Amino acid sequence: MDIFNKATSRLGPLGQYASQVHGYFTFPKLQGEISNRMIFRGKEKLVWSLNNYLGLANHPEVRKVDAEAAEKYGMALPMGARMMSGQTDLHEQLERELAAYVGKESAYLLNFGYQGMLSIIDALLDRNDVVVYDSEAHACIIDGLRMHMGKRFVYPHNDMENMRKQLERATNISEQTGGGILVITEGVFGMSGDLGKLDEIVAMKKDFNFRLLVDDAHGFGTMGVTGAGAAEHLGVQDGVDVFFGTFAKAVASIGAFVAGPKEVITYLMYNMRSQIYAKSLPMPLVVGAIKRLELMRNKPELREKLWTITNALQNGLKARGFNIGNTQSPVTPVVLSGDTSEGANLTHDLRENFNIFCSVVAYPVIPKGMIILRLIPTAVHTLEDVAYTLDAFSKVKDKLDQGAYATGKIVKVL
Ligand SMILES: Cc1ncc(COP(=O)(O)O)c(C=O)c1O
Repeated sequence: MDIFNKATSRLGPLGQYASQVHGYFTFPKLQGEISNRMIFRGKEKLVWSLNNYLGLANHPEVRKVDAEAAEKYGMALPMGARMMSGQTDLHEQLERELAAYVGKESAYLLNFGYQGMLSIIDALLDRNDVVVYDSEAHACIIDGLRMHMGKRFVYPHNDMENMRKQLERATNISEQTGGGILVITEGVFGMSGDLGKLDEIVAMKKDFNFRLLVDDAHGFGTMGVTGAGAAEHLGVQDGVDVFFGTFAKAVASIGAFVAGPKEVITYLMYNMRSQIYAKSLPMPLVVGAIKRLELMRNKPELREKLWTITNALQNGLKARGFNIGNTQSPVTPVVLSGDTSEGANLTHDLRENFNIFCSVVAYPVIPKGMIILRLIPTAVHTLEDVAYTLDAFSKVKDKLDQGAYATGKIVKVL
């Protein structure tokens, strides 16, 4: 058997639709400046699918600093891994600023959030340690856990009673192995927008001995008074032992970081394979991140605007009877009933006839019969964008209810 056979015989749960949807629902090309309006297939669309929460992607001060840094340093500097030849004062400065931002002793820069998380998990755990984690944890956490040779216990999403049971089981095992317990969850869950129950989890430290690792990819910059994330919002930042954030969302760049006690960060610096065996983050990304943090700290109006748009969008959807789940963050899922083809046809109608570009999630990613349109409000949206979108959503929902999209096949998009 040729290992390449799978490339033609089973493309995977999403890949099976590739010939029908590639370039439209999957791998769409959004062109022009990153903003509330962008060009898709030659036409301007109102875009609700970018995690550019604070509008930093195209902020003029950010663009200027990015360009100047690229001019001054180029994209290669520094060469080599941090440990070998890729260390600079600016990398260290950014780490100090990140640590201060999230109220931790130290921070370590990561080239990418996804690989970084794999390596954090890999470095923190040995075969005697036990993990307790949320069932809806991001793929980077699940994939990191694939490397874990010890026991792991999953609890249903945010089910604290069940989590307590898993902690009891984990405690029994760790007493036998002599290992420790790591709890892993998210601050803001990126699909549903609900928050990890970090306050309740931190409170369980009274009854159990564990460390808490929080992936706050969507919460960093958006949640809490200073934007330090979901734990700040819930008043338990100090209870988070290891904080993980990425630059891929509110910071609007590439890169990520992990923050925590000094000795733990030093341990990670010397043990995280994703960093030891990878080139250091290029200077323009480091200098650009320093600028972005400055704006995040000094321009609270960006976060206020994000929340004005978020509240208008979410309250408007609720007032019109839409089910937006339990979101407590800017992430706004609109949950509808319908099959995969109805989801695709409705999204196509929104995109072509209402000029609204948003992401759609349907079976097999979520259960059959469910369609989720996911909207990401940002500081560059306007209240007019919200009003227009609410009207458009009411119209497509009526059509969905009348069966207008139930053609049994996905509209021809290409
Ligand atoms: C919850 C969560 N964790 C981690 C990541 C990975 O971050 P990065 O894009 O920096 O690899 C993402 C997505 O970007 C995410 O949504």
